Amino acid sequence: MLVVNTKKALRELIKGYKSKGKTIGFVPTMGALHEGHISLIQAANQASDITISSIFVNPKQFNNSEDLQKYPRTAQADTDQLKEAGCDVLFMPSESEVYLDGETLQLSFGSLEHVMEGAFRPGHFSGVGLIVSKLFNLIQPDKAYFGLKDLQQCTVISKLVADLDFPVEIIKMPTVRAHDGLALSSRNARLNPSERTAATILYRSLIHAQSLLSKGVAVKEVIDHSKSMIAQEPLAQLDYFEVVDTKELKPLTNVQGQNEVAICIACFIGSVRLIDNLVFIP
Ligand code: PAJ
Repeated sequence: MLVVNTKKALRELIKGYKSKGKTIGFVPTMGALHEGHISLIQAANQASDITISSIFVNPKQFNNSEDLQKYPRTAQADTDQLKEAGCDVLFMPSESEVYLDGETLQLSFGSLEHVMEGAFRPGHFSGVGLIVSKLFNLIQPDKAYFGLKDLQQCTVISKLVADLDFPVEIIKMPTVRAHDGLALSSRNARLNPSERTAATILYRSLIHAQSLLSKGVAVKEVIDHSKSMIAQEPLAQLDYFEVVDTKELKPLTNVQGQNEVAICIACFIGSVRLIDNLVFIP
């Protein structure tokens, strides 16, 4: 596996692949890799000649300085895992390599800014959109892989690609979970043992809400019920619990007649903020 730290070296490498007609699958990450990330690498390996991954903890998408500072950084273990998974190229730039001084461009994703992660993390999706745009321009992938664990991020990226005409196919991959249902996340590494146990409340509340919705219980009642279930977990502090459509992620009052519905949660467990969702056909 080649490890590349500069844009210049990356551009040269990409020029070589393109001149040979090689197809490129790309998996952007912020490191602290787990099986969820690796499932994206494996999917990329199967569909393209060359698999490229990036590791960059992107300061522009953190609206909380403590979250940025405490984000787990495990470069050596990540490099070993990517190599083992059959990744061909790892792009791992420094912050000054990525961002020039005085960059001021902001992106806005319309109504997606006002719901869920957009509402709770102002500026987050602008930061995600900027880094992903830069990486797409540098790497020029044929396909890029994103996890549905970050459902709203997937919607934002699809909009970015459509609005800016990026010639890349976005592949959305299912959420990889631990044995007890907890969605794998780099932030799970920050949970102590009792928080790790408490963190199962996210998936348990989603499953519970799905079963009530399938029985025809009204959305408002389901949300109230789920919120009181979460309130019984002393280590949990809820940001939001929403039932939304999967196209625009608008909150629903009624799931009847919807093709696909997502139940989405963001919740602090101690000081660690976790998100999860379940998509289903009502
Ligand atoms: P990061 O949180 O490192 O996630 C990288 C990719 O892995 C994302 O597409 C994410 O949705 C996916 N992923 C995370 N947990 C997963 C799981 N349990 N199962 C399947 N896929 C999972 O998301 C980011 O980084 C950043 O915002 C990024 C897109 C790299 C831009 O900085």
